[in-house]
Amino acid sequence: MTGIDESPERAHRFSGDTDVGLPNPARLYDYWLGGSANFAVDRELGDHIAESEPRIANMARENRSLLRRMVTHCCRQGVDQFLDLGSGVPTIGNVHEIAHRHAPDSRVVYVDNEPVAVSHSELLLEGVDRATILRGDLTDPAEVLNSPITRGMLDLNRPVAVSLLCVLQYFPDTDRLRETVASYRAGLAPGSYIAISHLTTDDGDVNASGVAERIRSSRADHQAYPRDLEEVLSLFEGTRLVEPGVRYAQHWHHGEIAGPTEPSGIYAGLAQVPE
Ligand SMILES: C[S@@+](CC[C@H](N)C(=O)[O-])C[C@H]1O[C@@H](n2cnc3c(N)ncnc32)[C@H](O)[C@@H]1O
Repeated sequence: MTGIDESPERAHRFSGDTDVGLPNPARLYDYWLGGSANFAVDRELGDHIAESEPRIANMARENRSLLRRMVTHCCRQGVDQFLDLGSGVPTIGNVHEIAHRHAPDSRVVYVDNEPVAVSHSELLLEGVDRATILRGDLTDPAEVLNSPITRGMLDLNRPVAVSLLCVLQYFPDTDRLRETVASYRAGLAPGSYIAISHLTTDDGDVNASGVAERIRSSRADHQAYPRDLEEVLSLFEGTRLVEPGVRYAQHWHHGEIAGPTEPSGIYAGLAQVPE
């Protein structure tokens, strides 16, 4: 797989003010998914992590399949507004593409703080009326929910599906994460959905601790903090989990016939904001 041409000019155009010398989760994930929005440092760490867990690319693919199933489920429940937090570099099956297939009037706000992810999203969304990207920090729910970009696209008085897929694992403090999720919940209309997927060491088929350890011992601009079932369940406090509850990503299905799956090492759940 090749990445972004690393000439300084082109690197700057795509990276804005990010430090391209440090591996970053958006670009690492893009690399594992076969994208080209990544730099040599990302690819080096990506390969180093893959030595400890060779299924890492499958794990990323399972997470993208999960995203498709969760968005589809929300669409079938009549939800037509989406807020994708930590949306990443656009890849196959982005939220607006899935949602627009079900309801062309659906509206989508992507949020990411990584400049390469944001600039690639801007390019993809040129000419798309009902989807936009906010460069912002998802750990500041007030800023995200009150941003004119969010307010211009979404009506928060109606249900919104908020996704936090494979992103909360980058934050060490579970209590603060619970507060963050609770603040989003408080800002959403009843009937809204919150989707979470999260790296875990509970899944014995996957070496998630090896993945976290290789990130920890690298120069990456982030760390990974896998969580156990109890911690992941606690993030859903104050919401109502929908069937099938919290499962490994590859087992989170809702009525569809499951195809062949790979171990993911990722917990997944979708919950509804009650009245
Ligand atoms: C592993 S990727 C997941 C992408 C996508 N959610 C998915 O599941 O396919 C994690 C993303 O979260 C973003 N991210 C990390 N910390 C963030 C923060 N504080 N605010 C916004 N985005 C963040 C990263 O830049 C990256 O794009």
